[in-house]
Amino acid sequence: METVVSGIRSTGKLHLGNYYGAVQNFVKMQHEYNCFFFIADYHSLTTHPTPENLHGNVKQVLIEYLAAGIDPERATIYVQSDVPQIAELYLYLNMNAYLGELERSASFKDKVRAHPDNVNAGLLTYPVLMAADIIIHKATKVPVGKDQEQHLEMARTFGNRFNRLYKTEYFPEPYAFSFSDKLVKVPGLDGKGKMGKSEGEGNAVYLSDSEEVIRKKVMRAVSDSGPTEEDQEKPEAIQNLFDLMKIVSTEDTFMHFDSLYNKCQIRYGDFKKQLAEDMVIATAPMRERINEIAADTSYLRKVSQLGAEKARESASKTIKEVREIIGFKHF
Ligand code: TYM
Repeated sequence: METVVSGIRSTGKLHLGNYYGAVQNFVKMQHEYNCFFFIADYHSLTTHPTPENLHGNVKQVLIEYLAAGIDPERATIYVQSDVPQIAELYLYLNMNAYLGELERSASFKDKVRAHPDNVNAGLLTYPVLMAADIIIHKATKVPVGKDQEQHLEMARTFGNRFNRLYKTEYFPEPYAFSFSDKLVKVPGLDGKGKMGKSEGEGNAVYLSDSEEVIRKKVMRAVSDSGPTEEDQEKPEAIQNLFDLMKIVSTEDTFMHFDSLYNKCQIRYGDFKKQLAEDMVIATAPMRERINEIAADTSYLRKVSQLGAEKARESASKTIKEVREIIGFKHF
């Protein structure tokens, strides 16, 4: 059976981008593959969280994984830092990862632009740690959103380089995966680009947002003064709202508003109201479960212990073999 690995950075609550880009695929894949889903808390250290924030955020992602429907009996759910073998593999891969290629990564360049005062080595080698996360379980499929595509290419590069260097076929190639024919990019509500946590207040709708908060955010989403010509191309902000509707609403609803737009008869108030209601409906079951699961600390402890054990078993087998391949020997 093919092995699947994916993770979410532990930076707190999950938004609709995380859910539709990644987690929804996790839930489906757990029935068909040998799945490892983790909470990337090593990765989150690039932004220097306090110990309290770090733990709280890990817990929140664990709760939301479970609320979204990942079954800890089927898939292995674990916290990255519970598996230090990942950090060991990261060290080995770093010895053959080069400054030039790491500096060329699009997400590194974005981070440098956004935070020129915090360009740390962890940020630079972020794709190496991500490669270690994936190949530690010899995964071939990695369910992620569109923004992670380049990181997957780098994971293949580092795995292949290890194979070449040690003349082995040890690591298989991992590929980004989505059940839809393309990798998903969920737009945000601010009229430009993707939904994301660091894109500013009001851009992201979270799974844990209350109904009122969802309605307020959607009603405030950036739009314009409306179409002036029939069948005109939609500007980015409007296209983004239609893309969101395509994700959360029925086909009929989408077609209805699309046709009103094309006839210049759309009323954005009605359009946004419908979009907000459909987001409320889509997230309702998870919202309820988030509160239930959050209250059950002993269940969370059980799940994370079980996951850590299963993940460590798989990772330590790989590390043992990798050490032999590299040439570490006992006297
Ligand atoms: P992160 O935490 O930024 O996002 C987690 C997952 O959510 C997806 N995603 C989106 N998909 C579509 N539209 C959006 N607007 C959107 N925003 C986020 C991301 O593509 C991702 O799949 N580096 C990773 C975490 C990671 C990882 C890994 C993933 C660490 N190691 C190994 C896979 C395998 C990250 O920062 O994702």
